[in-house]
Amino acid sequence: MAGNWKMYKTPAETQTFFEKFRPLVEKSEHCEIVICPPFTNLAAAVDAAKGSPIQVGAQNVAWAKEGAFTGEISGPMLKAVGASHAIISHSERRQYFGETDETVLKRTQAALEFGLTPIVCVGERLEERESGNTETVLVSQFQKGIAGLSEQQFAKIVIAYEPVWAIGTGKTATPEIAADAHKVIRAQVREKFGKDAADAVRILYGGSVKPDNVKSLMAQPDIDGSLVGGAALDPVSFASIVNF
Ligand code: 13P
Repeated sequence: MAGNWKMYKTPAETQTFFEKFRPLVEKSEHCEIVICPPFTNLAAAVDAAKGSPIQVGAQNVAWAKEGAFTGEISGPMLKAVGASHAIISHSERRQYFGETDETVLKRTQAALEFGLTPIVCVGERLEERESGNTETVLVSQFQKGIAGLSEQQFAKIVIAYEPVWAIGTGKTATPEIAADAHKVIRAQVREKFGKDAADAVRILYGGSVKPDNVKSLMAQPDIDGSLVGGAALDPVSFASIVNF
């Protein structure tokens, strides 16, 4: 269960969040818990999470180790600050910052090379769904962005299905819609990396996950976890999602 804070919270607010959140998930051993704050809060989050089961992730990672890449943050930098995960190819990066399937693959490979667990996002936009192209889009994002990994690399990634029309809109995909998309993705995994990889890979659902809808989403066998935006900013609501 991962929380993506997007561009919210300062280091002080991060500390306050963890003070409230930690005791609420102390006994939550049924899942991994990851919080992905902005880069500027990673150190504060790692510090505040020390001694708890909560892991800390970044929201992006550069494809290079270091160099003239103004505004980018590399895998070794994230590792050095104590991050364990990195979200890659969030639709907001695709939409506003020119992320392409090609850069997604490069970032994913870099995350793996430097020991971070990539949470690789895929998902269709509203017009793609309405024109009946959901499956085509998911297959294409998988083929171009994920299928280029080796079997060993693939075994270490987490996939997140986030339909763009459900992000921040309050319009959650119904459990059935989400499950159908997860099935498409898992079938791609099976075809490319085999049955064991398809059974083992965790596919998270993201898009308006809230305490009151998480249970029905998680009841779908193909949904293995959630990538939560807005509801992960509040410690009580994210804890109730984690403890669904
Ligand atoms: P919301 O939960 O705010 O819809 O955001 C989902 C998301 O984009 C998580 O990465």
